Amino acid sequence: MKPRAILNSFLLLAFVLSLVFDWSLRPDPARPNFEYFPNMAHSTRYAAFSPNPNFPDGKTLQRPEPGIIPRGFLPLHYQPTPQDALRAGEELQNPFSPADPRAVERGAFVFTNFCMECHGAGGVGNGPVALKGFPAPASLVAERAIKMKDGQIFHTLTHGQGNMPSYASQLSRNDRWRAILYVRGLQKQALEQAQKQAQAARAAAPAAPAATPPAPAGERP
Ligand code: HEC
Repeated sequence: MKPRAILNSFLLLAFVLSLVFDWSLRPDPARPNFEYFPNMAHSTRYAAFSPNPNFPDGKTLQRPEPGIIPRGFLPLHYQPTPQDALRAGEELQNPFSPADPRAVERGAFVFTNFCMECHGAGGVGNGPVALKGFPAPASLVAERAIKMKDGQIFHTLTHGQGNMPSYASQLSRNDRWRAILYVRGLQKQALEQAQKQAQAARAAAPAAPAATPPAPAGERP
């Protein structure tokens, strides 16, 4: 026999033997097979609720340290108070620009789905929910809302304000900022419209009456 044939028959024999061992050690295919050196596969550990002598309170599950920040969570250091709303107005900036059409488009979508029902399509506070008896919100195109800083509106959307609930659980931070972008657009439109109306009113107003002609002598004016 050639050495190659000897090697091949040896390997075949080893393979068949390993199959036989495999089957004879644990023939149940529903369970993992025999593990020869399992120490590295299963390291020793404490189960979540098992007692644990390594911690002073003897438990495995430990409370997180104060101030700990979960992965992927961005903390926001503002309390739901009017003072913190003003502080947010001073400190926070809208990360989106009105020049970004995708942000504005997304803002319009968010506004239509989450704000319009109360604030109305134009933001004046005549949404269907308000018309059905929910306390009508202040107009978003009024002077007060125009003067609110973006960060303050962000605080309003995050923590709510008066009768308006918080939208933090429904809207991501970015979507809250984009909705604000859209509200700014509404305000701009409303301002432009008001200016146009004022101009039209001025143009249509009758010219100032000419000076009253002096009454003929002897007559009462
Ligand atoms: C359930 C109805 C409702 C929804 C939905 C709603 N709001 Fe409001 N919103 C209100 C009410 C009511 C107020 C007035 C709160 C108060 O009493 O100060 C208000 C106030 C505001 C104010 C402050 C106005 C001011 O002059 O103080 C802003 C800004 C605002 N909302 C923006 C939004 C935006 C943006 C959305 C969508 C993400 C939204 N709101 C969704 C009801 C709603």
